Amino acid sequence: MALEWRAEDVDSYRMDIRDPHRVLEPLEKEIRTVDAALGALRAAGILAGTDYDRRRFDTHRAAVAERFEIPWTAITPRMQRLLYAINAIRRPRAMLAAGVFCGNTFISNAGAAVGPGACYDARDCLGVEIKPDEAARAERNVRAIDPTGVARVVAADAVDIARGHAGPIDLLYLDADGDATTGKGIYLAILQACLDRLSPDALVLAHNSVNCAERLKHYLAFVREGGAMRASMNVVLDGEGLEVSVR
Ligand SMILES: C[S@@+](CC[C@H](N)C(=O)[O-])C[C@H]1O[C@@H](n2cnc3c(N)ncnc32)[C@H](O)[C@@H]1O
Repeated sequence: MALEWRAEDVDSYRMDIRDPHRVLEPLEKEIRTVDAALGALRAAGILAGTDYDRRRFDTHRAAVAERFEIPWTAITPRMQRLLYAINAIRRPRAMLAAGVFCGNTFISNAGAAVGPGACYDARDCLGVEIKPDEAARAERNVRAIDPTGVARVVAADAVDIARGHAGPIDLLYLDADGDATTGKGIYLAILQACLDRLSPDALVLAHNSVNCAERLKHYLAFVREGGAMRASMNVVLDGEGLEVSVR
């Protein structure tokens, strides 16, 4: 089932990708907007609740700002909060993130389970990045937050890692941009490579559901109408968007 939730001010909410920690709006407004999105996800039966610990999120955000080397990122403050909150609510024991670049997108998910903002224990949070240099930087960044190794980044093709993953996977995060031919269309290949190992009620999060919708059309048709996912909602809280699907 295809659903959409949209923030009213989405056309005017813009970030500078080279200045990811800049405050874009009053904190109360950011919290209200993300709460509204979480409420829509709960109403659609995609999330079981909407509560997350805001103080722990603040701690997570501060640690990332202080310890991560981020050359650029398109993860807006709203998206950072939404990803953390979804993970804090769903509490995946095993999370797989595909295409993590410098690791900011990965830790926005894994930060609910590891590091100073953690609110639950996970078994395994695995980030995959195909470029070895970027994977090494992401791994350095993650180590600066999580000394335990529960969260880690490997240099590999996410399709291969998804195919070989033992499962069950409780949350799959998709952000890989493939090659010149596939682009973000690679999301579908990654999802199909591990679909049979998604746990019941697993969440699949796809970044760029708005600004890459054309490139993602086969993926979006699959999660919205393909029958493999119970429900799917396009959460348009910034210009990138996040498609949130539940198995
Ligand atoms: C656009 S970046 C994601 C950035 C993220 N949205 C952010 O704002 O921080 C996509 C990343 O996916 C990686 N990538 C592309 N194809 C991949 C694949 N098959 N497996 C793993 N990573 C891949 C690229 O090297 C790139 O670092």
